[in-house]
Amino acid sequence: MTIDSTTLNAPPPVGGKPAPVPSRHRAIQFPRSPKVIAGLFIFGVFGIVALTGRWIAPYSPNRTDEQHWVRHVLVEGTGPGTSIAAQYYPLPLPPSPEHWLGTTVFAQDVLSQLIASTQATMLVGLLAALIASALSILFGVTAGYIGGTTDEGLSLVANVFLAIPGLPLVIVLADYVPSAGSSVILVAGIIAITSWAYSARTLRAQTLSLRNRDFIEAARVSGEGRLRIIIAEVLPNLVPIVAASFLFTTVSATYAYVALAFLGLAGSPTADPPGFWNWGEMLREGFANNAIRGGWWWWWAPPGICVAMLGTGIALLNFGIDEFINPRLRTTGLSRRAAKKAGIHQRTTVGLTPVLGSAVGKVAPAARELPAGKPAPVLEIRGLSVDYGYGAEALHAVMNCDLVLRRGQVLGLAGESGSGKTTLALAAIRLLRAPAVITSGQVLFHSHAGATVDLLAAAPREMREIRWSEVAVVLQSSLDALNPVITIGAQFEDMLRAHRPQLSRAAMIEKASEKLEMVGISPERLRSYSHELSGGMRQRAMIAMALALDPQVVIFDEPTTALDVVTQREILEELMDLRGRLGFAALFITHDLSLLVELADDIAVMYAGRVMERALAGALFHAPRLPYTYGLLHCFPPMHGKRVPMEGIPGSPPDIRQLPSGCAFHPRCHWALGRCSSDMPVLAPVEGSNHEVACWLHRDGAEVPAELARPEPSAVKPVHVSAQ
Ligand SMILES: Nc1ncnc2c1ncn2[C@@H]1O[C@H](COP(=O)(O)OP(=O)(O)OP(=O)(O)O)[C@@H](O)[C@H]1O
Ligand code: SF4
Ligand SMILES: [Mg+2]
Repeated sequence: MTIDSTTLNAPPPVGGKPAPVPSRHRAIQFPRSPKVIAGLFIFGVFGIVALTGRWIAPYSPNRTDEQHWVRHVLVEGTGPGTSIAAQYYPLPLPPSPEHWLGTTVFAQDVLSQLIASTQATMLVGLLAALIASALSILFGVTAGYIGGTTDEGLSLVANVFLAIPGLPLVIVLADYVPSAGSSVILVAGIIAITSWAYSARTLRAQTLSLRNRDFIEAARVSGEGRLRIIIAEVLPNLVPIVAASFLFTTVSATYAYVALAFLGLAGSPTADPPGFWNWGEMLREGFANNAIRGGWWWWWAPPGICVAMLGTGIALLNFGIDEFINPRLRTTGLSRRAAKKAGIHQRTTVGLTPVLGSAVGKVAPAARELPAGKPAPVLEIRGLSVDYGYGAEALHAVMNCDLVLRRGQVLGLAGESGSGKTTLALAAIRLLRAPAVITSGQVLFHSHAGATVDLLAAAPREMREIRWSEVAVVLQSSLDALNPVITIGAQFEDMLRAHRPQLSRAAMIEKASEKLEMVGISPERLRSYSHELSGGMRQRAMIAMALALDPQVVIFDEPTTALDVVTQREILEELMDLRGRLGFAALFITHDLSLLVELADDIAVMYAGRVMERALAGALFHAPRLPYTYGLLHCFPPMHGKRVPMEGIPGSPPDIRQLPSGCAFHPRCHWALGRCSSDMPVLAPVEGSNHEVACWLHRDGAEVPAELARPEPSAVKPVHVSAQ
């Protein structure tokens, strides 16, 4: 659960009406893949021809001109010099300015027939796909969602249709319904009946997996009816599958129609009642009248090419259907061209956040020497900046952030939702997916052996070795991070096999049991699947996996947010106990400052992508210097101690696409000064201490309000400071 400080006390937002969302962030973007663009182009051209055919065709497809549109060849043994009157046979004319695609042996214009055929062929293909998709949704989704005997009955019908070979069934049906060829709806219906069953099975399987998901349960609990859940909750999740199967069925229905017509079962345009001109009919006439042997390629090749081109166009379109419909997939990959355009110097690798070429190797300012008694750093984040997107569309989620995590210590990272905590932590180990790009900074990992590695410049292999072995992560969504189809034990084994291949299977199981016991779970649970564990147990299992290789650093991204307060507390106490015993350093992310103060040695507070305050936990808690930190501390009741009224922070966190000028907090700041809206403060020590803050109230002799000028607790030690 995401707790926003404004939920506790929400006065009207400061800063007037919300700014309009820029148009570049529209819900559906035009696809960029060349394949999809080519597919759209081909499909579009055929579509335009089909729609405008009536007006652009030079002649009627049935028109004949036996005098001028064929060549008359004298039949041998007739005519002058013989006793038999001259007899002629017709030969089609090759392409010419009057007939761009020549003529047929029946003195008809091929181009006009091709244009008329495009309309009927596409119409039948699309209509058949529409009917088949409706049938597959009706059968597949209903069977999958309702289950029980309904599922058995509907699945049986689908299986019967799957078992019958499609084309022979179409041929039988088309032959059985004599007027089928003269009705687009009839012929499309016959084709659809044989092509819906496969999609129905796919949709049923997908619905089965969706119907027990949490958001469907939530809809049920909220009282939504069955039909509404199917239409409003299940169907939108099936759109990519329905769209892909619609396109696939369009192609197969087009081929089926062409095949029927080629066999003479789709009605001839000259019969009574007349059928439609279509590409199959053109091919049939050509083949039946020796077009191939006669070398009259202009008669049979164009419809053949059209069949192939339309199929290719739709197949290309199918490639991009996910990219077009699913906003997550649209941005998961970064093409080499896009990477080059963005200035990313390495080949982008899946699972490794790309780093801008200009950022690599640029050494950020070194950490200033620390007062004696502080443990050595194990992970140093220097000047880290992360964007989502590239160029003009880039969204600056993290800007120039410095953090130092020391051996065996806990560094707390706090801030409201969207302030960039997860982005900062995951960028440090390059786990963010595209369109995230690291645009500057260094992340130095100091190993036990004394070696220092800049994780932003590390090769993929080096990163694989460091991740989990040296730097482990408990993700914000760790409740979903366990694989639902393999046991907890198998997941431990997979991870140990990747990092400790020398261990025997028995040793792996022993290690996994020991780690599970360590977090209070019985080793028996190694045989359980994740759905057999409670939320707290799953969270503990993830923590046990994170600690399995005795890493030096563990990043905890809100590891207990989804749990109840009692379980949360239990897990946190165990965590701190483990840290004491195992000695790992932890970067602990949470919204809850009052929780952090109990766990952390140092705390950093983020706002709108920047670290705005940094201090020892006690100093930050008892003597906050930043108005924002003060507000955060007054959002959450302390875990212990007497009850005090909570005030909260007015307004909402800013949209990082449109940050306010100057100090990003100024529209919500109770103590904002004149310069706050124009000048951006940088992180710097408050006079006479190692407590750092980015706030104009503590610069140039400004008057500091009493709430932000409390004396630092005497027991607190000076905090680490970076040279800026
Ligand atoms: N894949 C993405 N594409 C574009 N913007 C993103 C993406 N992921 C995150 N963001 C934006 O980056 C900003 C920081 O997000 P981040 O997840 O780091 O926040 P957070 O502080 O961890 O929030 P929370 O406390 O809710 O987990 C947010 O404004 C978010 O909208
Ligand atoms: S710089 Fe100004 S607006 Fe920002 S926190 Fe300080 S006083 Fe408030
Ligand atoms: Mg987060």
